[in-house]
Amino acid sequence: MTHFEIRQKFLDFFKSKGHAIVPSSSLLPTDPSVLFTTAGMQQFKPYYTGQADPSEFKLEDGTIARGTVSIQKCMRTSDIDEVGDESHLTFFEMSGNFSFGGYWKKEAIEYAHEFITKELGLEIEYVTVFEGDKPEPADYQNTVPADTESMDIWQSLGVRVRSCGREDNFWGPTGSEGPCGPTTEIYIKGLEVWNLVFNEYYCYPGGRLEQLHTHGIDTGMGLERLAMVVQEKSNIFETDLFQKPLGPLLSGMGGIDIKSNRIVAEHLRSAVFLISDGVLPSNKERGYVLRRLIRRLLIHSKEWLPVDVLDTFILNIISEYSPFYQDLKNNKDKILEIFSKEVKIFNKTLEQGLREFNKKFPGMRAHRMEPGRPVDRFIAGQKVGKEVFDLYQTYGFPLEVIKELLEDRLYEFDEASFRQILEEERKKHQEVSRAGVEKKFGGHGIKEGDLASAKAGDYRKTRLHTATHVIVAALEKVLGQKLPQAGSDINEERLRFDFVLPRKITPDELKQAEEIANEIVKQDLPVSWEEMDLQKALDSGAAGVFKHKYPARVKVYTIGDESNPFSRELCGGPHVTHTAEIGKITITKEESISGGRRIRAVVD
Ligand code: SER
Repeated sequence: MTHFEIRQKFLDFFKSKGHAIVPSSSLLPTDPSVLFTTAGMQQFKPYYTGQADPSEFKLEDGTIARGTVSIQKCMRTSDIDEVGDESHLTFFEMSGNFSFGGYWKKEAIEYAHEFITKELGLEIEYVTVFEGDKPEPADYQNTVPADTESMDIWQSLGVRVRSCGREDNFWGPTGSEGPCGPTTEIYIKGLEVWNLVFNEYYCYPGGRLEQLHTHGIDTGMGLERLAMVVQEKSNIFETDLFQKPLGPLLSGMGGIDIKSNRIVAEHLRSAVFLISDGVLPSNKERGYVLRRLIRRLLIHSKEWLPVDVLDTFILNIISEYSPFYQDLKNNKDKILEIFSKEVKIFNKTLEQGLREFNKKFPGMRAHRMEPGRPVDRFIAGQKVGKEVFDLYQTYGFPLEVIKELLEDRLYEFDEASFRQILEEERKKHQEVSRAGVEKKFGGHGIKEGDLASAKAGDYRKTRLHTATHVIVAALEKVLGQKLPQAGSDINEERLRFDFVLPRKITPDELKQAEEIANEIVKQDLPVSWEEMDLQKALDSGAAGVFKHKYPARVKVYTIGDESNPFSRELCGGPHVTHTAEIGKITITKEESISGGRRIRAVVD
């Protein structure tokens, strides 16, 4: 069965059970607490909590659907180190059925059982169910009882059941809060294939659970894993999802390391989907994830794959997946352009970085390149940390790649000493920028470049910060004049900024500005920055806060096309990489302050 057929079978099956087919949402969710869509339920989060009305999902005949079914693009970076084994991925597609206050455990389990055993003719090896928290769990604030109901249902279907704890059989929430609950997982041929989540709770930041008013069903089955068992393959890379677009790449094309081939294929597919959905390579958050994927695949393909061949594979991916994701086709030129631009940037330092690395750490990949060649036991096991800092800082090698390179050469990575020097450098850098740029330019104290520290609140502030630039520019358009800025203040709730204007802004003008701002969000314009001389920045029309004294070198943030930008401001950042990340903008207040006006606004 091809992946085309598997998809169709899944959607048709749940359609026949009264589910509305819902298209995949973007990999970039509007939910500020997550960077990416990591699960099929992401787009349905508000339906579980009662914020949205599930009766809006209708069947073709106009009646209200029993639930929804989708095949959702997902991105998870948590498994990045595992990529290259039999079944782990960063980008994947998740097939799932969902119910919001409708059917419950019996139907959900029976549907899954029927689909696997009757529709696909596969045997369920065993399932797991939640064994219940032990009395007074130390780590959780609420005790969740054993799921005996699911146990009974499975047993009545004649399926072997195992009980497991929270680690295996409790799912969610995505991000910092949301619906969650106990799960039952289906195993086929030793592989976990389908996760059925019974959303009974709302989890608040910090872990407190509260019963949801209505319970919900959220199931997720990785399409790649499903294809692996249906097509009787021993790993996901042998399924047609990978073989059709990327077969020659996976079989090596002269490369000798199967793990490298798989990493290149997997990361390339992820990069194509990320770029198509609007991510641009950068040094923070989503952009940094994309950058790491591209850089890692370039390092892994460096020795055996001419870079221009990658374009052919990008086109193959686009043509294989376009029947399901039309956007890929529409964005073809953008994908090729952004990818090749990033390749160019990194290639400049890649070769030099590898040379440096090989000089410092002899042993190369000899034991891999030439099987049988003895490994230099003398160097094996040496601990290195500080020594690779340049590779990270100057040559831009992602940390996981550095670790891999060291591992290849049998060095041991001393992460603690690496982190120490990173921290020292960061402090030095911060002092410099504090004295120079960041504070004065309305930066709001978010560290850039460190994905791990991208907390939900920080990301929200970043979105509000970009929203500030958008609203200022929108107001200037409506009023037909420049608005000298007098400062801004942002917290997790709202943005606020002041500017000079000797009169009130009318409600009508505010409304127009808000509409323009939201139009800019909808257009998903790129947000880019450049460091330049102050004079050049001012000549290019960049606006600043008029009372500030700027240093000679400044950062300029541009929203939209460089040649005809929507907004250009002197600013320390950080900002989102695309305006769609901001979410809906609402101007909440306009008031008078001494010498001017003050605007407050929020984002969804
Ligand atoms: N949300 C669950 C998961 O991602 C089931 O869809 O595994």
